[in-house]
Amino acid sequence: MEKMVIEGGHPLYGRVKINGAKNAALPIMAACLLTKGTSKLKGIPNLTDVTTLCKILNHLGVVTERRPDGSLEIAVKEEKNVTAPYDLVRTMRASICVLGPLLGKRGMAKVSIPGGCSIGPRPVNLHIKGIKSLGAQVKVKDGYIIATGKRLKGNVVYLGGPYGSTVLGTCNVIMAAALGEGRTIIDNAACEPEVQDLVNFLNKAGAKISGIGEKNLIIDGVDELNGIEYEIIPDRIEAGTFMIAGAIIGGNIVLENDIACHLTSVVDKLQEIGADIQISNENKESCNGTKYCECIVKSNGEIRPTNITTLPYPGIPTDMQAQFTALLSIAKGVSIITERIFPHRFMHVAELNRMGANIRNEAAIAIINGVPSLSGTTVMASDLRASASLILAGLVAEGITEIRRLYHIDRGYERLEDRLSSLGAKIWREKE
Ligand code: EPZ
Repeated sequence: MEKMVIEGGHPLYGRVKINGAKNAALPIMAACLLTKGTSKLKGIPNLTDVTTLCKILNHLGVVTERRPDGSLEIAVKEEKNVTAPYDLVRTMRASICVLGPLLGKRGMAKVSIPGGCSIGPRPVNLHIKGIKSLGAQVKVKDGYIIATGKRLKGNVVYLGGPYGSTVLGTCNVIMAAALGEGRTIIDNAACEPEVQDLVNFLNKAGAKISGIGEKNLIIDGVDELNGIEYEIIPDRIEAGTFMIAGAIIGGNIVLENDIACHLTSVVDKLQEIGADIQISNENKESCNGTKYCECIVKSNGEIRPTNITTLPYPGIPTDMQAQFTALLSIAKGVSIITERIFPHRFMHVAELNRMGANIRNEAAIAIINGVPSLSGTTVMASDLRASASLILAGLVAEGITEIRRLYHIDRGYERLEDRLSSLGAKIWREKE
């Protein structure tokens, strides 16, 4: 086992390139199950979650290969197997995104139900409701969702849950309906950029889906989809995490290959509390017409308190909540964070308090009394974004911070310590 070691107190200067988005990569890789021929996906990051999904796809008769140019080639070779087994699914909840494409293309899917995780219960009732509305027979047996249905039939599907829509549930229904018969309308579809990217991929592959980024998505079933070349969007959560790194310790960093409009709420909040963020060089165009840019993040490390509520896109993402919690722990005053997507997602609070933060968590709220400084100690990462928040806290803490259970960070950030080091942070891995 490895641990991350950080010597705090070094401001960040320089340029860093934002990688492709994990949460766009995973459903798009799964969508290749729907296609004939080979797809060449560019910008797929090197992450353990990507490796896990490759293993599941391999198990399902799909060949996946990293090419020397970094792209990932995906080709379906045989379509007999329809089972995503527990041993593979248990390590990554996003494995559920093979449910829709397996059912839509092979007429049957048997997918292990992902367990809960440290960010709270992770129900899949909306996924099941969605595919049932398309005519699938669904039963839950021995820990598996077993869904059957030869060509699915279009219908109106409402995807609202207690905390809004569902990102991967929307992806599953889109993929199940893409090769179905007739028109499916998803009412209250998730609008996240990663869902939009999946739709752009499918449309380029031959699907007929309109309403991209809107609450009503209209999917007109087609007979086949073809393998294509596609570049996935940059990771807005990785970009936001680097922005907070720049804001928490101060300095002047430039994020390359970002799409600013995916992060408007985060940039707006950071500007409100003291960071200076400028967007420049909107040059290259993504396939949905949004512009890639550079973001310049300057800060003197002085942060004002604020209130934050996480919301579905375009609100502040729940995947940025832990990082904001770390940042606001050194703000000059009291901040309140309300978590409206995963109300139990506060495992990082106790660890930040071990570093000297003063945060009280009650129900879905964190009340943060800003402290003048944090101090390094040994802390445990509980999930991906919690790991990121502890690394951010370590950058500004006095002395040495050691983060255990490091495997969480490699699920979603590629070589984070190398990239922070290149900006001037003192951060490295050691054997535990
Ligand atoms: C996606 O998870 C992301 N994962 C998560 O990122 C992200 O936090 C989440 O969306 C919200 O933005 C991937 O894209 C791989 P949801 P997903 O279904 O789709 C409730 C990260 O750190 N719900 O949109 O699984 C659910 O409990 C990860 O990168 C139901 O009630 O999340 C939650 O309260 C973590 N029934 C809310 O909806 C359902 O059937 C939103 O969850 C499904 C969800």
